[in-house]
Amino acid sequence: MSLLIRGATVVTHEESYPADVLCADGLIRAIGQNLEPPTGCEILDGSGRYLMPGGIDPHTHMQLPFMGTVASEDFFSGTAAGLAGGTTSIIDFVIPNPQQSLLEAYHTWRGWAQKSASDYGFHVAITWWSEQVAEEMGELVARHGVNSFKHFMAYKNAIMAADDTLVASFERCLQLGAVPTVHAENGELVYHLQKKLLAQGLTGPEAHPLSRPSQVEGEAASRAIRIAETLGTPLYLVHVSSREALDEIAYARGKGQPVYGEVLPGHLLLDDSVYRDPDWATAAGYVMSPPFRPREHQEALWRGLQSGNLHTTATDHCCFCAEQKAMGRDDFSRIPNGTAGIEDRMAVLWDAGVNSGRLSMHEFVALTSTNTAKIFNLFPRKGAIRVGADADLVLWDPHGTRTISAQTHHQQVDFNIFEGRTVRGIPSHTISQGKLLWADGDLRAVAGAGRYVERPAYPSVYEVLGRRAEVQRPTPVQR
Ligand code: URP
Ligand code: ZN
Ligand code: ZN
Repeated sequence: MSLLIRGATVVTHEESYPADVLCADGLIRAIGQNLEPPTGCEILDGSGRYLMPGGIDPHTHMQLPFMGTVASEDFFSGTAAGLAGGTTSIIDFVIPNPQQSLLEAYHTWRGWAQKSASDYGFHVAITWWSEQVAEEMGELVARHGVNSFKHFMAYKNAIMAADDTLVASFERCLQLGAVPTVHAENGELVYHLQKKLLAQGLTGPEAHPLSRPSQVEGEAASRAIRIAETLGTPLYLVHVSSREALDEIAYARGKGQPVYGEVLPGHLLLDDSVYRDPDWATAAGYVMSPPFRPREHQEALWRGLQSGNLHTTATDHCCFCAEQKAMGRDDFSRIPNGTAGIEDRMAVLWDAGVNSGRLSMHEFVALTSTNTAKIFNLFPRKGAIRVGADADLVLWDPHGTRTISAQTHHQQVDFNIFEGRTVRGIPSHTISQGKLLWADGDLRAVAGAGRYVERPAYPSVYEVLGRRAEVQRPTPVQR
């Protein structure tokens, strides 16, 4: 029941130091020099490596029913692949159908997630609005540990939330101390452009990025940010992919607005030329929304991470195999949107971010774990190396290499957007709840070992927002 990691360099979001770390009964019990192992303790030699908080992926879609099919990765295979990549927790999404009870959908997703191999939580999507939705949001926050609600500003005629829903739901988030999040793309424009491109005979994957240009994301980001500003809520933008959306975040943050941005490794590294691959299946394999962008956006996103205007990295892990992607063979708008990445996120970010000198190791920890824990109120249980924190850790080998391939990855999908890329810096061991579940290529994930993690309302951002609201409270004129 205990594990001692000896001789590693502990690296957190703020410091690094040599120390032994003792884990027992799922928690970190001691940190120090030359710790004595209790009787029967397993010992792991960490020399030459970094011991960091386990990764938290705040954006996954395991077995999501979407666009007429179901994502191929389930909660066991997906969290197991995460462990192989150093990720020890996920926050997935409950996405009710319009008119469906939020609680009913929540219980369905809880059932699916019971086989998770690592800890998990849920954001809940607001896909329609009514008094019932408002009440159920309250129940989810008060009784089920949900503190964030997602709004898809795209996917018209499916799960899109129009402005009236955004306003009502953001206001409800404010009452409940929850964080509204948005997928920022103008769904009306996307719908319009899809129809127009199809009418012009553009039916292949190359039309996908044309139907969702970066200004479509910038407009929606601006709208969501201004709604949040007007109502006084925080706002978290998922998968920020464009300079336009980033500029909106930077502008708002420059005025003191608490807006957070998430970025995916794919948007940092890939450009839109992938959609012009002569092989249809290859081009379709990259179809996700927002799409990969022209080159200049990637440099802007890196600068967003460096300047502190982007805060988290996620994967939007949403897997569809070639057979599923083929549903859109004659119509690009029917290609199921989504790509994989939970196994690759940390190594790709280390390789392209830390090895290149763009990010420090501390920024890497913040971006892969700690910032997510703080924004979604999991810190310091997660995202920290502290006595009493969950023993979710990754032992990082900065010299280890891996060549990414769909042939060898653990993700349950036949395509990898990083195919052939060799990364330097890999997780040699992953520890979840104090147990070694990934050890030098040996994956020991156990179905059902993951726990549902409740996230309390009122993350720390609400302290400052509460005081601001108090100071700025309007007063009537006494006449
Ligand atoms: O293409 C994507 N991103 N698919 C999953 C749903 C979403 O928009 O996050
Ligand atoms: Zn999305
Ligand atoms: Zn998503």
